[in-house]
Amino acid sequence: MKIGVIGLGYLGVTHAVAMAKLGHEVIGIESDREKLKLLSSGKVPFFEPGLQEALIDVTKTGNLSFQEKHDRNSASCQLHFLCVGTPQEIGSYAADTSHVFAAAEELARVVSEYTIVVGKSTVPVGTAEVLRGRMSELAGFNVIVAWNPEFLREGTALEDSLNPDRIVVGSWDSAAVEKLREAYKPILDNGTPLLALDVPTAELVKVAANSFLATKISFINAMAEVAEVAGADIVDLAEAIGMDERIGKKFLRSGVGFGGGCLPKDIRGFLSRAEELGVGAAVDFLRNVDEVNLRRRDRVVELAQQELGDLQGKKILVLGISFKPDSDDLRDSPSLDVALRLSALGAKVRVHDPMALGSLGDRYPELERAKEIETGAKDAELIFLGTEWSEYKSIDPASFGDLVANKLIIDGRNVLDVAAWQAAGWRLIALGRNVHN
Ligand SMILES: NC(=O)c1ccc[n+]([C@@H]2O[C@H](COP(=O)([O-])OP(=O)(O)OC[C@H]3O[C@@H](n4cnc5c(N)ncnc54)[C@H](O)[C@@H]3O)[C@@H](O)[C@H]2O)c1
Repeated sequence: MKIGVIGLGYLGVTHAVAMAKLGHEVIGIESDREKLKLLSSGKVPFFEPGLQEALIDVTKTGNLSFQEKHDRNSASCQLHFLCVGTPQEIGSYAADTSHVFAAAEELARVVSEYTIVVGKSTVPVGTAEVLRGRMSELAGFNVIVAWNPEFLREGTALEDSLNPDRIVVGSWDSAAVEKLREAYKPILDNGTPLLALDVPTAELVKVAANSFLATKISFINAMAEVAEVAGADIVDLAEAIGMDERIGKKFLRSGVGFGGGCLPKDIRGFLSRAEELGVGAAVDFLRNVDEVNLRRRDRVVELAQQELGDLQGKKILVLGISFKPDSDDLRDSPSLDVALRLSALGAKVRVHDPMALGSLGDRYPELERAKEIETGAKDAELIFLGTEWSEYKSIDPASFGDLVANKLIIDGRNVLDVAAWQAAGWRLIALGRNVHN
């Protein structure tokens, strides 16, 4: 099939590559010229494991091309996937859907016959219906709109796209569902179920799923707050409750909380949309979920002050600034937020990250960049592990201890071997754990 993918960020590039890998002829449309230039020269503009290699492979097959604007060829695609961003609006909790509408309107102006548009961006429930009206008016015929939310996780994005747990499609038109079945055929043949739903349900599935995941993380972090004052251990507690199969162990790891370009803005966007619909009270608990999450960041700053006193001039190394390992995405990153707050309190903060220093660009010059963990650790008075990259888990505490001025570490992700670090003479503070020496 000839397929258009509009908006080539984390979602769009992955989707475009995945569709090309399935054998479709894919035309990617990206309005940012810098990104377009990189993609056209075979480079993924961000870090995502395996995606760079996959992009090169599919580009060689001739199945994938990129352009800035639509032309007659791209307008005639059998499916147009909308993958543009829906960030939080500045000054409000609402999702900013302006990019979705702008991209859809650009497309509506160039299409001349039967057109199927498939939204993949995460949008407030009700968006697709408005979009269908606006596109049809501009195009001069009934544009078919379906919503096909995306559940990929950064770090395993391509694998998630090619082997999803389920494919959700919301549509008013069975022809759109059939075209999507055709597009996803190899995935469906592997046993992945496709759920054909009504449009509002499909739109809601995505925000409901993210709200549930965020709630689960904040639940265990709320328990961590209690554990800290009660002298209990959150890792043991999570293990014990996670063994109940109704609860499950996944997403039950306490730490400095969630971040990224999805969960925080999606729960806030959901709060805002539910209020518009007059059912704000039904999801008001998400406000607490957000607050518990942000309080974990406060807690790290508080611990740093408790341990070091006035932070003015104190040397602190932050290990990991991406919002999660195996990604260079800094959007709403908890560890970067903590780094900036420690720096604002006068600390001399160095940051290390295996992949994300490039994403900082020239922003936040107050943060010193450490290319190597060892150089960053030199004379440090406190280490804060904020993102659980695997290489941090395998640091040898004995030799590492020789570099620092003070063997003090806050494990913000509960991933370090407490006994080994303590045996090497470190004072290790683990969030929610009764292990402090
Ligand atoms: N990142 C994820 O892990 C993920 C997972 C599932 C769903 N989502 C959802 O997918 C959507 C996109 O997320 P993302 O992380 O890829 O965002 P992103 O900001 O990384 O990418 C969006 C891209 O769209 C481009 N764009 C904007 N307007 C355009 C236009 N008119 N024409 C062509 N290109 C245009 C931007 O330049 C940018 O490159 C969001 O709604 C997000 O919530 C993201």
